[in-house]
This record gives sequence, C-alpha cells and structure tokens, in this order.
Amino acid sequence: MNQTKPTMPSFQNARPNAAATSAMALRFEHVRGQTVNLIKPLSAEDCQLQSMPDASPAKWHLAHLTWFFETFVLERFEPNFKPFDASFRVLFNSYYNGVGDKYPRPHRGLISRPSLDEVLAYRAQVDARVQGVISAADADHAELAQLIRLGLQHEQQHQELLLTDIQHALSFNPLRPAYARRWPLTSTAPQALRWHGYEGGLVKHGFDAALDGEFTFDNETPRHPVYVAPFELASRLVTNGELIEFMADGGYRRPELWLSMGWDWVQAGQHQRPLYWQEDDAGRYRHFTLQGLQDVDPNTPACHLSYFEADALARWAGARLPTEFEWELAARRLPASSAKTGNFVGTGAFHPLPQQHASLASPSQMFGDVWEWTQSNYNPYPGYQPWEGLVGEYNGKFMCNQFVLRGGSCATPQSHVRASYRNFFPPDAQWQFSGVRLARNVQ
Ligand SMILES: [Fe+2]
Repeated sequence: MNQTKPTMPSFQNARPNAAATSAMALRFEHVRGQTVNLIKPLSAEDCQLQSMPDASPAKWHLAHLTWFFETFVLERFEPNFKPFDASFRVLFNSYYNGVGDKYPRPHRGLISRPSLDEVLAYRAQVDARVQGVISAADADHAELAQLIRLGLQHEQQHQELLLTDIQHALSFNPLRPAYARRWPLTSTAPQALRWHGYEGGLVKHGFDAALDGEFTFDNETPRHPVYVAPFELASRLVTNGELIEFMADGGYRRPELWLSMGWDWVQAGQHQRPLYWQEDDAGRYRHFTLQGLQDVDPNTPACHLSYFEADALARWAGARLPTEFEWELAARRLPASSAKTGNFVGTGAFHPLPQQHASLASPSQMFGDVWEWTQSNYNPYPGYQPWEGLVGEYNGKFMCNQFVLRGGSCATPQSHVRASYRNFFPPDAQWQFSGVRLARNVQ
C-alpha cells in the first residue's frame, strides 16, 4: 500500500499571518495560564504527591507540559536552542520512545528536585521563549502553528488529569482536604428517565472540519461510514440514586451481572461500592470529592465508575452501554443550542451536576458532567494512520485493551471536546469522572 502518512492535525488557515500569530500568542498565554491557575489551591507538598502509578504529581504535570513545548517546539524552531536543564529531557518525558530515555512512571512522586518553584521557573522561561518563536514566525511556519495547537490540546488533556490525580491523592489523607471550597449542589430533584429513538442506518462518523472545528487528534480520523442498527438512548445519565438501588439489589455480589473479567476485578479488589464512597453506621453514603467528603446526592450523575461497573450497572438496568457510534450519532442530532454545552471545568463546579432542564426532543448532559463509557473498543478507524514524526506516538500505540469514552466531564475544558472526540481508558480505571448513559436495542 502506497499510502501517504498524514501530517499533524489538519487545520484550516494553518499558515500564520500577523493576526493569526497574535491570536496564537494570546491563546498560548491563556491556556498555559489556566494550568497554573489550577494549582493555586494546592501547597508545594500537595503538588509532590503520587498516589498510584497511573496518576502523576501535579508538579510533574506542570513540568511535562513544559517539556512538550521545549522538545517539540523550541528544539525544532528556536535558533541556537539550549535546554533549560538537560536532565529534564529524561525526567519529564512521558512515553515518547523516539525522544529517548524516560524516568519510570511509578516513581514520579520521588522526583523531589527540581522543586515546585524551579518547575514554575522552567515554565516561565519556556513560555517566554515560545512566545519569542511565535512572534518571529513568518508565513512559512504552518508547522509551528500545528505544533503549538497540538501542545495546547495536550495541555488541556493534562489539566483534567491534574484534577483527577490530585483528587485521588488527597483521598488518602484522613483530614479529607478539599481542593475547592464551594460545594455546587443545593436542593436537587429526581428526573424521570425517558428514551430517545434513533433509526440508525449507514452513518458517517469521525472528525469533520465543517462540524467539529479546526483541530482533531489523529485517532478521530478518517471519517468513515458505519452501519448503526436502530437503538434508543437514555435522556439523562445514570444517577447515584440508581447506583444505590443497584448496590441494594446485591449488584456487587451477583456474578451474573458482570463480565468475566469484571467479576474477577470485583473479587480481587473486594469491591462493594464505587471508588471514594463510604457508608456510615446509619447506612448513609458519603463520597470523597474535590470539595472533600460530601453526602452522596441521589439525583446527581454517578461517577468514578470503571467500565466493568458501568457495564454491570447497565445490565442490571435491563439495558446496555451505547457504542461510540451510537453516541456520536445522537450528539450530532442535538439542537444547536445544546450542542457542546454542559458542565465543563469552566463552571467551577468540579463535580457532576443533576440534570437541569429535561428536553423532550433530545438527550441532555451529552457533554460535560461525566465521560460516558461506550462498549466500543479503542480501535483504529478503517484507514487510520498515525501522524508522522515523533508525535505519531501520541495516540495510535495505545489502541489495545482500552474502551472509548465520549463527551467530556466537569474537569474538561469546554474548548477541548467535540462530537468526534475519543477518550480512552482501561476497563478497570475508576479515578476519572466516568459515568453511564444507558442504551438499548429496538425490538
Ligand atoms: Fe502528556
């Protein structure tokens, strides 16, 4: 096959002119600043914590994001490039074998030096140098624009990880420290679950610049037709109240509800309730949140569920998880007023919120609140080609033993997601804001 490898993300108007260069500089400053804003509630000691191999210290996120720009932008475009510190090339390389050696992921919390202040100085210097490269860019630097855009999308991915990782780390502290002070839930009310029907058919899926904007990761391409059988999708997310019913019905003790691997996972981990949940002597459930320990609200979307839990919960409910294509079809059918709107990180809630305004016409909460597990394996689309060069390691090499999640969460920047966006995690991962929307077949 003589296929041409795609270059990095396909952009419209990628070639910078003066106005585009100025916009790029502002966007760079804004997104980079948002990351530093996220650590303001944290102490230097908080930023050092690593609670498990899958999670990284906030300090490491800050440094790694800077490493990305230093390695992929400054090394490539800065005249007379010199590294801020040559040892950082290994310390803060995540998984890029093409770049060279990597410090072992499970031990990132042991990197006590450089200090947080030194990492922030690293960020400040690299930011200034990237701004210098942007301001010096001429009309031939379309590649620079592409790498800056990718670096900022990468930055936003890690902003979410920084929040979920710090929640996991703080959960081990018996003082139950809060990241955020404001608890966003007041009085809530149950909302009936309805079903929305879709005829399906042969439908095109994947990134479409006309629909999805100017950026795509390579894993959202190429756009391709998929046959979708008629199906129904729930009007809202599964709630904590429904999860409590599942538990009360012996959900964690009934092997018939679980996939074989899921049941092994339940038994090996002695799971009896979701991550962060605890039950007091009166049978009242509380859970650890970014606002510390809080009562479980029955009308709020359930979250921090593994794929195994999501699948068992759906089976108990007499339904199933949607495929990623069903989800995308439904997302594309949303009215313009609700497409890509929702409870993202910008609301400051840092927690899923109950369904607010039930629509009879379309499902709600498709975007934001919680990432929605799909039953789709994270596979390459037909004809998929990773980007060429070092950034070709970004997505494609993870297409094994993971499942796709859609829609973004309360920790996701709104400008980061779109209908074609594919998040992915292994089936036992619980620490993301991951939840469930039910689907069912049409008889
Ligand atoms: Fe990364």
